Amino acid sequence: MVDLTCSIAGIRSPNPFWLASAPPTDKEYNVVRAFKAGWGGVVWKTLGDDPPIVNVNGPRYGAWWSGDRRVMGFNNIELISDRAFDTNIEEIARVKADWPDRAIVVSVMFPLDEQVWRKRLAQIEATGADGIEINLGCPHGMSERGMGSAMGQQPDLIEKVTRMAKAATKLPVIVKLTPNVTNILPAALAAKRGGADAVSLINTINSIMSVNLDAMAPEPTIDGKGSHGGYCGEAVRPIALHMVGEIGRFADTRGLPVSAIGGITRWRDAAEFMALGAQNVQVCTAAMVYGFKIVEDMIEGLAQWMESKGYARLDDFVGRALPKLVDWKFLNLNYVTKAHIDQDLCIKCGRCYIACEDTSHQAITASKNGDRHFEVQDDECVGCNLCVEVCPIENCLTMAPMQGGNDPRTGRAIEQGHADWTTHPNNVMAGATTCD
Ligand SMILES: Cc1cc2nc3c(=O)[nH]c(=O)nc-3n(C[C@H](O)[C@H](O)[C@H](O)COP(=O)(O)O)c2cc1C
Ligand code: SF4
Ligand code: SF4
Repeated sequence: MVDLTCSIAGIRSPNPFWLASAPPTDKEYNVVRAFKAGWGGVVWKTLGDDPPIVNVNGPRYGAWWSGDRRVMGFNNIELISDRAFDTNIEEIARVKADWPDRAIVVSVMFPLDEQVWRKRLAQIEATGADGIEINLGCPHGMSERGMGSAMGQQPDLIEKVTRMAKAATKLPVIVKLTPNVTNILPAALAAKRGGADAVSLINTINSIMSVNLDAMAPEPTIDGKGSHGGYCGEAVRPIALHMVGEIGRFADTRGLPVSAIGGITRWRDAAEFMALGAQNVQVCTAAMVYGFKIVEDMIEGLAQWMESKGYARLDDFVGRALPKLVDWKFLNLNYVTKAHIDQDLCIKCGRCYIACEDTSHQAITASKNGDRHFEVQDDECVGCNLCVEVCPIENCLTMAPMQGGNDPRTGRAIEQGHADWTTHPNNVMAGATTCD
């Protein structure tokens, strides 16, 4: 039996699967149902100071679908909690008392007013909640009022507000970062300087989901007008993975606990974020699209995978992929691969041929003895793997490394060992390249 118990910034939960601050964690009813389904923790929907914010009364969501109408990307123009502070506080206290083993972190967003932070965090502390998450990420509505991502895009404000929160509570403070920046590291560093116990990321990405060409207005449309919203769901996962990885590998942020968010839908997504250094994960869109019970598969899948790999506890694999996340210049230029087509699996659709012929290296032939037949020509193949990505049949096209001999494309001998750009003769900066 593997141990899925999770601890981040001193906050413990029976498994690493938390619901992110959003509609799934908006109220007692939802959170109790989530805990019954097995979620290890929740970050309560962001509380603001009273009076509560006002939401639009029309469509607040947009979606981008795959061909089979699976929600790949999701977008919203919802604001933070629109319920009174005290209503939320009463419910949080009740749920925590009934579910002491689950993590309840309370997300907050207040203006830069020390009095407000002191008063409100004291009330939250009194509920028995396990921690605070500062929402510095909401990219719409709240940012127009100088909060959310408007603060999260300014490292000096991140540091200041983190310090303010830390001074106002003994609870662990998680700082939720916005991805609406070109480099996540200044924000993570600012949170660390301010005394954050952990960071969580990503919040949603600025986006316009679609434009209705009849109404000539962005969607979702409210009485003929639209506004940019926050993008999330499976489509944002690669961006989130990159940002989590950057925090894990950069010397000055390495070791800062990370709660990863962004498109997590299956156990495997969670394992990938954790391999890049996240202590746990948070989920929003997948729960909104598929319901709370997806956590059952997440728990079972992660446990089975860990067992198959011999990992007894989460710490056995958290961060394991980080040493292999490097700058491009450290990639091995002696590594030569060629595409290979399994003729038994090939359905002769020709997609690989078209892709390689039109936009890659004309390395796939489309006929043999007058018959439709697809084969890779090693003397033209650069190993780019475009054909693998477009082939509709799994494992039909694979990439195989060449072991010794000559590369039939270049005629050059395949050198053993590692040689990268830092020492390449074409690199005029060779020898001057440094890295931490
Ligand atoms: C409808 C909706 C409302 C959200 N509200 C909040 C919020 O109040 N506070 C917050 O920190 N994040 C909020 N988020 C962002 C999520 O917590 C999460 O960071 C983001 O959706 C990425 O995760 P996902 O890809 O699993 O959805 C909201 C997201 C959605 C879709
Ligand atoms: S790996 Fe690239 S170059 Fe080689 S066959 Fe495939 S698409 Fe063509
Ligand atoms: S894309 Fe795949 S299935 Fe289609 S012809 Fe190429 S190898 Fe065969």
